Amino acid sequence: MSANNLPRHIAIIMDGNGRWARNLGMTRIRGHIRGVNSVRDITTECARKHLEQLTLYAFSKENWSRPRYEIGLLMRLLKRYLIKERPTIKDNNIRFTVIGQIEGLPEDVRKEIAINIEESKSNTGMILCLALNYGGRAEIVDAAKAIASDVAKGEMSLDEIDEDTFKHHMYTADMRDPDLLIRTGGDMRISNFLLWEISYAELWVTPVYWPDFKKEHLEEAIREYGSRERRYGGLIE
Ligand code: IPE
Ligand code: IPE
Ligand code: MG
Repeated sequence: MSANNLPRHIAIIMDGNGRWARNLGMTRIRGHIRGVNSVRDITTECARKHLEQLTLYAFSKENWSRPRYEIGLLMRLLKRYLIKERPTIKDNNIRFTVIGQIEGLPEDVRKEIAINIEESKSNTGMILCLALNYGGRAEIVDAAKAIASDVAKGEMSLDEIDEDTFKHHMYTADMRDPDLLIRTGGDMRISNFLLWEISYAELWVTPVYWPDFKKEHLEEAIREYGSRERRYGGLIE
């Protein structure tokens, strides 16, 4: 496969932790715990492949509607992950970042996020971006508010607003759009992930639950991506 046909930015909707556990007669919580292993494996593999960016949907704005004990566990797991994965980030020269309404996360989690961002800011390898308390519609509303505020302050005129203006007000302002969007767990939906950014991403859905998602599944997705023809509404000669 030529370098041209390799995705530079992969985004993943890591779904199916609960069903994975239930199928094995365990509580949903075990699924989330096992899901962290897949995060580590896939992150390391993507860094090894010199991917430019890996964006992982870890907690949506809508996930707050889950039972309190599950949310509590997810936040504790997230905090533990942020601390425990520091060597992985360092050893793989990964630059860690986040998107979403981070201010809505518990204070202790925010603190660990800030440390990971600071400690990895001069790393020059792959960007690992966690989507936390993230909602695609919320992101667009936040961008619209920021643009409206610029206009109200007279810093921008209405006529100047174009797609680039929106791009630069998204949480992903300085990132390239995902080339490949993977969803595990089999559901053929977007669940409010990166609505603006995925307009021309290639989609790949696998029935494999996230805790079972391994290097070979990633390879399969990348292979399939390589066989797609991206036309962006145009024609290929
Ligand atoms: C994905 O797995 C993890 C999060 C959304 C945090 P789920 O918890 O959604 O697992 P299923 O989809 O119920 O199997
Ligand atoms: C999407 O999965 C969110 C994350 C993977 C963090 P969900 O399990 O929340 O999505 P729905 O509810 O099936 O659409
Ligand atoms: Mg789910």
